[in-house]
Amino acid sequence: MSKFDQQLLKALRNARHLFVLTGAGVSAESGVPTFRDAMSGLWARFRPEDLAAPEAFAANPKRVWEWYAWRRRLCASAKPNPAHYALVEMERHVPRFTLATQNVDDLHRRAGSRSLIELHGNIHRTICSRERKRVEPRPQDRDVPPRCPNCGAPLRPDVVWFGEPLPEAAQQEALAAAADCDVCLSIGTSSAVYPAAALPEIALEAGATVVEINPAETPLSRRARYALRGPAGEILPALTQAAWPPAC
Ligand code: OAD
Repeated sequence: MSKFDQQLLKALRNARHLFVLTGAGVSAESGVPTFRDAMSGLWARFRPEDLAAPEAFAANPKRVWEWYAWRRRLCASAKPNPAHYALVEMERHVPRFTLATQNVDDLHRRAGSRSLIELHGNIHRTICSRERKRVEPRPQDRDVPPRCPNCGAPLRPDVVWFGEPLPEAAQQEALAAAADCDVCLSIGTSSAVYPAAALPEIALEAGATVVEINPAETPLSRRARYALRGPAGEILPALTQAAWPPAC
């Protein structure tokens, strides 16, 4: 007998469009630190306004670049965990699947997720801070940050900082998917940062079954139809297997 509610399993099996929002918690079991967890979160050790804001980059580009270079190395050495792979599996079972992530670590793509929206960018990409164009490969010159080969402005990571808008196409695609879905999973996010946190609310208003997967309570918990408490790396594979048992 499955430990999951039968109505939840039925909703998943019958889903026409499954929309998933992920946050840092989905990568926690890969060893990538979250932001707001009290002891291990990055914002317990660093001030976001010193590192993840355009003003911080203008004031001290070297410090910001080096912090992101450290995180980039951390993400590059991390490996996708069973939660990432369970989402790849889910994508195979439903007619329509959209995965919107706030994570910049590239682990969903590396696991094999296909229908992926990166709401906050990708730490492995580099752009010119003036022209906003992608610069590939990242120049290995002595300047920190390296300079744009075209205009000489400092380069920056292609991530969204506090006070910056989300990439327009990504935001529109995610909004449309949240409004269209019939099941929405909100996984490993504190539901504290907008506009991403609005996506499950939009799904709720559209009448979707909203499911939260998180060891801790969040502002979404009370409104979600199901709040599954525990690590995503354990719950997601079990949920996928219960909804779509492997053929014997
Ligand atoms: P947070 O650090 O705010 O929240 C992480 C959530 O993951 C928390 O609710 C944890 O309880 C939960 N969590 C921890 N371990 C977990 C596990 N093993 N399985 C499932 N959940 C787990 O991270 P985000 O919500 O992603 O933005 O933060 C949103 C944005 O704020 C980030 O994209 C980043 C940050 O500042 C920018 O840098 C612009």
